[in-house]
Amino acid sequence: MSSRDTTMRGGGYYDRHSRIQGSVLEPAAAVLARAAEAVSLPSSGPLVITDYGSATGRNSAEPVDLLVTAVRRRAERVLPVLVVHDDQPGNDFAALFSTLTGAESYLGAHDGVFACAVGRSFHEQILPEGFVHLGWSSAAAHWLSVPAAAAPGHLWAPRAPRALFAAHARRDWATFFRQRARELAPGGQLVLVVASADERGASGGDHVLDAVCDALTDLVARGALRGSERDRMTVPMYFRDDRELVEPFKDGELVLAEHSTAVAPDPLWLDYDRTRDAAAYGDAFSGWVRAFSEGALFSVLDLDRSPAERRALADETYAAVNAAVRANPAAFRCAWRLGILRLSRR
Ligand SMILES: C[S@@+](CC[C@H](N)C(=O)[O-])C[C@H]1O[C@@H](n2cnc3c(N)ncnc32)[C@H](O)[C@@H]1O
Repeated sequence: MSSRDTTMRGGGYYDRHSRIQGSVLEPAAAVLARAAEAVSLPSSGPLVITDYGSATGRNSAEPVDLLVTAVRRRAERVLPVLVVHDDQPGNDFAALFSTLTGAESYLGAHDGVFACAVGRSFHEQILPEGFVHLGWSSAAAHWLSVPAAAAPGHLWAPRAPRALFAAHARRDWATFFRQRARELAPGGQLVLVVASADERGASGGDHVLDAVCDALTDLVARGALRGSERDRMTVPMYFRDDRELVEPFKDGELVLAEHSTAVAPDPLWLDYDRTRDAAAYGDAFSGWVRAFSEGALFSVLDLDRSPAERRALADETYAAVNAAVRANPAAFRCAWRLGILRLSRR
């Protein structure tokens, strides 16, 4: 058995298929602006912004630009800024650096802004004590640390009993904030956007892997995929409800300054609604699902599988998802419930 790889599909694929993740900036922008207003600016040296779970960087460009512009408006000197993009060691950092040197990068828009990357899990301390002034994490902190709880046969938490993943998620959430409390400077600010669950446990996107599940069941029935491989496949995310989201901040060094919920716009559905082009919607939706789930699902195939076999199984799976979306577009519309948190470091 291979170890689970929960990074996004590389080579620029994630950046081309992550408009849904990118759309969460719209409801979070005002919260980010308040973080930039509230942060204690350093009296010397650079202001450090850290982007936790950056993937390959396309969706980081706008929030970083917003933060740099807003803090510089407040500063009495031209504040140098260091931006640290953090992701897992297996992330495609070459693609990240290519995005950072590209035309849409914030590096081209501002003088005196510098970028670097850290390849280390955000469940660990990734930077020195008190180093970070502004933290941002979008569509990332609902990923569980690996290995996730054993839940054989459950493709992901939204379609499994919540109790199977809840204790693991609780530990991860506490760990995540313990590490951030160390890294943030006094007066620092951290803004997080995660998919969340309502009081019934619904996220507005619980259905998005149903067509993947059907495709895998079909592959097992045809003998192309082994049942034991199918049982290991999990996309380890957990969508916390409001009580779970705020649990770590009862006391301690991080103070909950804001907590709100919002429904994310669904740009893929909005395009379909305007054009009624089911084929384009099928391509966009299956590309989006593939970008975030392929690593987690197909990295756990048996070790005797050749790269060509792995590729063929993934191709078949996402082609089936594409066909299912084209056949019934309305069944795939998302209304992601977001949890947006702003935390201040005492
Ligand atoms: C859906 S992507 C979001 C990327 C980007 N923030 C955006 O909004 O498009 C989730 C990212 O979180 C990263 N991630 C998941 N678990 C992580 C961990 N333990 N440490 C660091 N990054 C992690 C994944 O590798 C992936 O790049």
